Amino acid sequence: MSQKTQLNRRAFLRTAGMTALAGAAMGTGTSMATATTPFVPEPADGMYDFDTPYSRVGTDCIKWDAQITKYGKENIEVGMGIADMDFQAAPCITNALAERCKHQNWGYTSRPASLLEAIAKWNKTRHGVEVDTDSIVLASGVHPGLIAALKTFSPPGSRVLLMTPGYNGFYGDLRGSQTLPADSPMNLVNGRYSINFADLERRIAADTHSLILCNPQNPTGNCWSQEDLLRIGRLCLERRIVVLADEIHCDFVMKGQKYIPFASLPDKDVVNNSMTFKAISKTFSLAAMKSAYFFSTNPEYLERVQVNHRADLNLLGLVATEAAYNEGAPWLDQLLPYIDGNHELVESYMKANMPLVSYTRAQGTYLAWIDVSQVVDRIGAKATAAEETSRQDASMREVTAEMVVERWFVENAKVQLNSGTSYGTGGAGHMRMNLGTSRQLIQLALDNMATALQKL
Ligand SMILES: Cc1ncc(COP(=O)(O)O)c(C=O)c1O
Repeated sequence: MSQKTQLNRRAFLRTAGMTALAGAAMGTGTSMATATTPFVPEPADGMYDFDTPYSRVGTDCIKWDAQITKYGKENIEVGMGIADMDFQAAPCITNALAERCKHQNWGYTSRPASLLEAIAKWNKTRHGVEVDTDSIVLASGVHPGLIAALKTFSPPGSRVLLMTPGYNGFYGDLRGSQTLPADSPMNLVNGRYSINFADLERRIAADTHSLILCNPQNPTGNCWSQEDLLRIGRLCLERRIVVLADEIHCDFVMKGQKYIPFASLPDKDVVNNSMTFKAISKTFSLAAMKSAYFFSTNPEYLERVQVNHRADLNLLGLVATEAAYNEGAPWLDQLLPYIDGNHELVESYMKANMPLVSYTRAQGTYLAWIDVSQVVDRIGAKATAAEETSRQDASMREVTAEMVVERWFVENAKVQLNSGTSYGTGGAGHMRMNLGTSRQLIQLALDNMATALQKL
């Protein structure tokens, strides 16, 4: 937009009493908050408060309210399940949304070029990957993008390669595309997972055309090395399998670790055989804003996938994304060491006080993958699960030992964790614990769990 057009537009909005919106409407982002008193002030000392618990109870959130509905208010002191965070959002995001709300019309919106530039800039400056703005496709979540890609590359009934334990949502994407999982269980040595390449290769069938890669990996927290990524990429290229790289957790990388974007690999052919899926939903905890995107260096893939993709745009999600990427880095830069500290606390506390569980520290994500196999044995969870399964209708989902452990922690420690068996083959004996919350709540959860386990 030329400066002249911009000035004319500002004059028009001023007349309409909407000067503050001009920045938002023209995508300059930063000018919004300067025009009026911000809705949420930035902290006077520049330090964001992650320590004071921020209650979400009563907001219909899944992390707390859905658990309270399921288990009762008296049984939930800490909700540590679904992967979003409890913190107050970065003020720049809420301020951008508040500014936009001053203009009271919510009609259809187009893709702001400034948003695409913000996405490209974030990926370049934070992760060193060049993303051509013309190659960015907006989506209302990573799932709709993945489903569109699966529908494009993998015919109904065919198998899609997954490395497991792996994010439970992928199984929903497979159902949405009428495809089936080919779980390739990873190797587990001393609490650390690695890809079992021999197994992965063995699972490739004639009609295997997609592999979903998760990096950093949910739930194990692994950040894959360049060597691993290239090996996956070359295997897939050779066997005509498209790599669908879900990198939604990429902004959570712990100290000393590295996230390598698939699109940055030093093999053009491998990169051209991939698509990358990202969102702000994890980074800035904006999951309900339904704003995500995918991109590829392969125009043919993009064109084909878009035939199956409906880019529903959520206006407030777009505003939030642009503000987050343009102005949210200081908030995230303070959050990352805080999350790292949470991982450290859980690791050291469990080692010192919970002999029945073990945790090998994640390299990325705010998720902790906890080994509870001894708890399974101590509480007789396998027998309980088998007995409950036999009593229920055959059409119902099998009760697993880890579901029994989930309930046990709720009833005995008032802490809700996610059962490991929902993460596919290899999830048995584990629970996923979400550390995206204040340290005070983490401490409370750990104390409650330790006290409960001492009774076993
Ligand atoms: C690996 C992974 N992919 C995708 C999603 C969901 O993304 P969205 O809410 O943007 O569809 C999640 C959420 O937990 C996730 O962990």
